[in-house]
Amino acid sequence: MTTYRVAVLPGDGIGQEVIPEATRVLQAVAKGAGIGFEFEQGLVGGAALDATGTPLPSATLTLCREAHAILFGAVGGPKWDGAPQEQRPERGLLAIRKELDLYANLRPARCFPMLVEASPLKRSVVEGTDIMVVRELTGGLYFGEPRGVEYFADGGARAINTMAYTSREIERVARVGFDVARRRRRRLASVDKANVLVVSQLWRDVVTKIARDYPDVTLEHVLVDNCAMALVHKPTHFDTIVTENTFGDILSDEAAILAGSMGMLPSASLGLAGAGGGAVGLYEPVHGTAPDIAGQGIANPIAAILSAAMLLRYSLDRAGDADRVETAVLRVLEKGHRTRDITPAGTGTVGTRQMSDLIVREVEAQY
Ligand code: IPM
Ligand code: MG
Repeated sequence: MTTYRVAVLPGDGIGQEVIPEATRVLQAVAKGAGIGFEFEQGLVGGAALDATGTPLPSATLTLCREAHAILFGAVGGPKWDGAPQEQRPERGLLAIRKELDLYANLRPARCFPMLVEASPLKRSVVEGTDIMVVRELTGGLYFGEPRGVEYFADGGARAINTMAYTSREIERVARVGFDVARRRRRRLASVDKANVLVVSQLWRDVVTKIARDYPDVTLEHVLVDNCAMALVHKPTHFDTIVTENTFGDILSDEAAILAGSMGMLPSASLGLAGAGGGAVGLYEPVHGTAPDIAGQGIANPIAAILSAAMLLRYSLDRAGDADRVETAVLRVLEKGHRTRDITPAGTGTVGTRQMSDLIVREVEAQY
């Protein structure tokens, strides 16, 4: 029997509630498909800070390195908001991304037909939206040097971060963008700020050069401010978007809300080819820790469950099983079951556990 090792890092807030549900869904897949999962729990984020004094203990990093894939919840929360940069829960996530070189972040933002009314945008605008944001994840402002703050004798200060990219960093994520677009509707929008930033000029030059290897994909360059506007004005214009780290952070949150709720959206952070047949990857719901609803059992587990589906698809090369999980989610939604976040007035009555039970049953029904 094939057995896959999955590092399970629930982290903080609702991460602790939704990740166990995603592992239950994977267990149902294992039973149906005749494979095995070894789930190994690791501490990360605020939970790790409290227990060990660091947001990414070395034991967790080792666990991640030795796993076929990583299932990640969310990190952060008001409790640690005052902490200095290096002692913040978010550092744990950034360190995993960097240490494992997870440079390509795939964030689908799709408006599910039965959830159109949950979107804050008009039906005529969002209907049919199906976007994949490919965000560069290990470069740019997040990691560029020099960085830091200097304090002046007069009481003033100056802080800097650096947006730096090498052509190699741009090229590899651009290729992911083209590859993804090729498997979708073969349209790629590369987003930059080339009218102002030299780093964006290099980005544009490199992406344009790589485009020659993908004559079947239509490339357009879009300025980031214009893209932010177009996403709410005409989201159906976009198919695949590739962009640098900070722009991708901002635009992917904006794209997420088109889908009605962040509670629906998974993500995959991919590095180079790894042990599971596919890329070494970290799979994470986009919604974050949601401290306002943590601990109440009402969080939507679908983003975590769809992240588990991406794990099957990208790290374990098990597209058939991934399809089954995605189909199960659609069926449960089609039958009208809703958590609070995916109803227009927050009227949904299904809790975290109940929603997962329904999805597990629909997964089981397909084997
Ligand atoms: C995200 C988050 C992270 C980021 C934070 C938690 C460090 O906002 O994954 O989009 O900025 O990348
Ligand atoms: Mg973000």
